[in-house]
Amino acid sequence: MKLKDWYSKNKKCFSLSELNFIFKNFGIDSLVYLDKSSNQILDKSKIKKLNKIKEDKSRGLPLALSLNKEDFFGFTFKVSRDTLIPRPETELLAEAACKLINQNNLGKVLDLCSGCGNIGISLDKITEVDSRIYLSDLSLKSLITAKENTINLGSKVKIIASDLFSGFKFDNFDLIITNPPYVKSENIKGSLVYEPRAALDGGKDGFKFLRKIVEDGHRYLKQKGYLIIEFGYNQKKPLQKLIQLNNHYKIIEWIKDYGKNWRGVILQKRR
Ligand SMILES: C[S@@+](CC[C@H](N)C(=O)[O-])C[C@H]1O[C@@H](n2cnc3c(N)ncnc32)[C@H](O)[C@@H]1O
Repeated sequence: MKLKDWYSKNKKCFSLSELNFIFKNFGIDSLVYLDKSSNQILDKSKIKKLNKIKEDKSRGLPLALSLNKEDFFGFTFKVSRDTLIPRPETELLAEAACKLINQNNLGKVLDLCSGCGNIGISLDKITEVDSRIYLSDLSLKSLITAKENTINLGSKVKIIASDLFSGFKFDNFDLIITNPPYVKSENIKGSLVYEPRAALDGGKDGFKFLRKIVEDGHRYLKQKGYLIIEFGYNQKKPLQKLIQLNNHYKIIEWIKDYGKNWRGVILQKRR
């Protein structure tokens, strides 16, 4: 079977961006090229792989878990059933962190709840400052995948297993960026069930981790250090209340996602 024939037969099952991602993994960059002129013959194992991807998709498995890969910030990360799949909105927080690091020459950075390492490794690769970047997560399986990603992407981040801040000293970081579990337990359904519950589950009200991070984060920041937090689309108001009650931070900026929902905040430790 020719690749273009598989493509014509199956293209309706996927979005264009999914098809692009699939074919990128088969060494083909352009769908246009595929449709018009590719006569590449698929061997049996490739046909089997492509059909498996289609089958996975039809039972709701996210494409990233079929391919065990996801793109984030222009880099391709290994992902698995043990790691959260990096999301596009998280790139917006990583971008904000990148700007803060470059503008303020921030030397020591923590990616808390690092998963496959997408945020910290991207920052390590892309910032202009020679920062020391740490990844930390409670899940050893996630950290193993993060280690593979550091090797694959040639990054020099340091990896530490830690239950939130427990592995770190006070007054330590210039910037902490975190995408913690923040989904309400009852909302973990649909395609989310394919991802590790511990990466998503923010408890009954979704704030189990957000609360701890706001309450304790300032202790681990240096004077005037920054804390960047991702949160759910309907969590801005209660989070703002929590931050104001806590009184250890100045709110620098709220960040919207591509759908114009509030999804992130940049805080600065007051003293
Ligand atoms: C929403 S995922 C974020 C993954 C990645 N940073 C990203 O943005 O795609 C949350 C991560 O928090 C980790 N986690 C859950 N409980 C934790 C804890 N008590 N301490 C540290 N990490 C924890 C999970 O293992 C998971 O990797």
